[in-house]
Amino acid sequence: MRGVAVVLIVALDPPAGTNVGEWIASRYEALKDIVQGFKLGLPAIVKHGIDSISKCFSDYEGLLIADLKLADIGDVMAEVVKWLKNLGINGVIAHGFVGYRGGVEVLARTCREAGVKLILVVSMSHEGSAEFIDKHLDGLIELAKAVDSWGVVAPATRPNVIRYVRARLGSDMVILSPGVGAQGAEPGDALCAGADYEIVGRAITRAENLREAALNVIRQQKEKVSKCRG
Ligand code: XMP
Repeated sequence: MRGVAVVLIVALDPPAGTNVGEWIASRYEALKDIVQGFKLGLPAIVKHGIDSISKCFSDYEGLLIADLKLADIGDVMAEVVKWLKNLGINGVIAHGFVGYRGGVEVLARTCREAGVKLILVVSMSHEGSAEFIDKHLDGLIELAKAVDSWGVVAPATRPNVIRYVRARLGSDMVILSPGVGAQGAEPGDALCAGADYEIVGRAITRAENLREAALNVIRQQKEKVSKCRG
């Protein structure tokens, strides 16, 4: 198992009714030295504001991803990216379905100039992904390649989709996979299918012992990967 990299990003989605600042800070402190990044989504940002949240991460050097699933005209997404960059965010998740011209084209250029990693959703972890998004999987992958995004999001809940995306992307682009734990996938399954990072939220952030839960996920990842990659 030696040599298997830790590739875990923790999704920080505080439940309603909590003190969001304290909730995030306690999880950050408990986990920052054993995971490779954190993802902040709408539940945290809507309640607390990225401004307040980012203070907590001011000395952090890992991945700090804003998961706003941007889906707007390019100029507006560009302004959001500039705000996020100023607040210490180094990765942003966006939808590709808004299209290239005047949309992802502008976003990708802005991310490149700002040094922010662009991550495009090509498929989602919930069942409804099949209704619209998955019908355009090939187009979304081609878009990610065309703008040379840093990474894409593909679902740990459907390893066959990850395998397909990896085959179409080649080895250069990063695949991030949510869906581990609360949504049913097991740690390491997405990595074995071709993902680079697994994103885990509630299975860690709502555990009684945060550190133990994260270490348990990492242990399972390493065991699976050592078997599937030899
Ligand atoms: P849980 O608690 O289910 O949290 O481990 C998962 C996290 O990942 C986000 N999520 C997604 N983000 N595409 C994305 O870009 C997806 O298909 C997807 N599925 C889940 C979710 O917002 C949460 O933060």
